[in-house]
Amino acid sequence: MKGIILAGGSATRLYPITLAVSKQMLPVYDKPMIYYPLSTLMMAGIREVLIISTPVHLPAFESLLGDGSKFGMKFEYKVQEKPVGLADAFILGADFIGDDNVALILGDNMVYGSRIERVLKAASNLKEGGIIFGYQVADPTSYGVVEIDKTGKAISIEEKPAVPKSNLAVPGIYFYDNEVTKIAKEIKPSERGELEITDVNRVYMEKGKLQVIPLGNGYAWFDTGSPDRLSDAADFVKAIELRQGVQIACLEEIAYRNEWISKETLLEYANKYKKTEYGQHLMRVADQDWDTYKDIYNSELFNF
Ligand code: G1P
Repeated sequence: MKGIILAGGSATRLYPITLAVSKQMLPVYDKPMIYYPLSTLMMAGIREVLIISTPVHLPAFESLLGDGSKFGMKFEYKVQEKPVGLADAFILGADFIGDDNVALILGDNMVYGSRIERVLKAASNLKEGGIIFGYQVADPTSYGVVEIDKTGKAISIEEKPAVPKSNLAVPGIYFYDNEVTKIAKEIKPSERGELEITDVNRVYMEKGKLQVIPLGNGYAWFDTGSPDRLSDAADFVKAIELRQGVQIACLEEIAYRNEWISKETLLEYANKYKKTEYGQHLMRVADQDWDTYKDIYNSELFNF
């Protein structure tokens, strides 16, 4: 499976912060925002990623992330001239996707949770149709909202409904089979003039092929598109990291644990970032007896 990060848009809800800077480059506590969605794709085991952004902002992402080789990955970049909707990512990414399945993640979305890696890996193993998530929120009116049956199949999905049929918001993380490119090309722009991901999801739903994984208690999902949400996400990351002495979205750590980079490469970055907690953490990761942890995580103990 391949991955796409959509990091475009004009982020008007964050003006004046985003007048000259890409939203997805803003810090969420101690890392650029795009680290978080990229870490999500990496945890799903996705190694080839297309990053889409505006003509003005794309070069900064290239300079931050490079060709992906430092994470043992492969990155490509594509300009989106105008923010014409999330589903446009599949049209812009058609050549990149080729014959593969694809995951799309929005550059301002982050998820966190104890077993999230397993959930993401399961989603990335999708054979047919689409897999999305459902996250209970107090007020779902500013999101896609999905209603599900007892098996987790979507039975209704609406974009920003005034009267939501459920309280399950749809996070900006989507897994699809290869048909998604064709579907994206066939849908029509919505009233707000955008190719809506919700319309893509509806096509899958109508075929009975849209599976929803509810992310219940124990998961955190943030979209960081407004000052309050951005600050909430930063507070969350700070609280977890300081309390536990861990790092959320530590890309070199995930790459190392995925066995995509060697210990030498890990140490190289630990050294480069040694003045930061991020670098200190990489150093600890290199010292840790990961094989023992891995055995525990893969044991019966964690098979619940
Ligand atoms: C988009 C999607 C919406 C989804 C949300 C998640 O909304 O259209 O369905 O729930 O991302 O962040 P937008 O950010 O365009 O308002």
